[in-house]
Amino acid sequence: MSAACVIHTPEEIKKIRRACALTAQVRDALAKECRAGMSTREVDMLAGVLIAETGGRSAFRNYHGYPGEICISVNDEVVHGIGRDDRILQETDIVSLDLGVAIDGAVGDTAITLTLGAEPSADVKRLLEGTRRALERGIAAAVCGNYIRDISRAVEEVAREYRLGVVRDLVGHGVGTRLHEPPEVPNFVCPGKGPRLVPGMVLAVEPMFNLGTFRVTTDRVDGWTVRTCDHKWSAHFEHSILITENKPEILTWQKTT
Ligand code: MF3
Ligand code: CO
Ligand code: CO
Repeated sequence: MSAACVIHTPEEIKKIRRACALTAQVRDALAKECRAGMSTREVDMLAGVLIAETGGRSAFRNYHGYPGEICISVNDEVVHGIGRDDRILQETDIVSLDLGVAIDGAVGDTAITLTLGAEPSADVKRLLEGTRRALERGIAAAVCGNYIRDISRAVEEVAREYRLGVVRDLVGHGVGTRLHEPPEVPNFVCPGKGPRLVPGMVLAVEPMFNLGTFRVTTDRVDGWTVRTCDHKWSAHFEHSILITENKPEILTWQKTT
């Protein structure tokens, strides 16, 4: 948290707005197409096609050597799941899609967690609703004059309300020109207020909540997939937002047209 926050210029923000709008468009198109019976590799390939159609490219492919177009994380997988031919989605699964489009020197970052047809259990409903609510409440706290810690506190409060475990090893972040920029945006209150929010900051707010323990572990074979230690299920929702003089602008909001 030592590095200075990135404040984007109006020219950069124009480009970031576009990258984020395209990212949201791909997310929503992909969510519509993603269904039981597909392999996660097929989902990744489809994402690659949809991203290419925007004229941009995947912000994740080759990021620190990441091998996929997007991240596809199923059930107890928290984040960074890589599409696989032998992972066939089931109706009873929950799947999180995390993706970013890079175009013209700008990037977006967004994630959603979907159910695939079966009626979710009461616990899974609580998981999805709590994580979605935490993202909303975190965004509502992202007003200029507040601190990063106010976002963290708002997110953490919802986790407590819904009795969900908050992943601590991964955090939200600045975004815009690069996929990960300072500052960090933890989903739990840390010592110190963190930086103050000022117009021109673009933040990826991304609660990752678990039905059980907050503890997670990274797959030792693929080096990427993060899973819960107790194998209870996990959800992830993420928006890229712009801090303004007033309410934050949700740059990866769904298109209404
Ligand atoms: N999208 C992730 C995030 O929300 C980062 C993915 S990095 C990758 O911060 F290398 F796994 F793609
Ligand atoms: Co993301
Ligand atoms: Co992110």
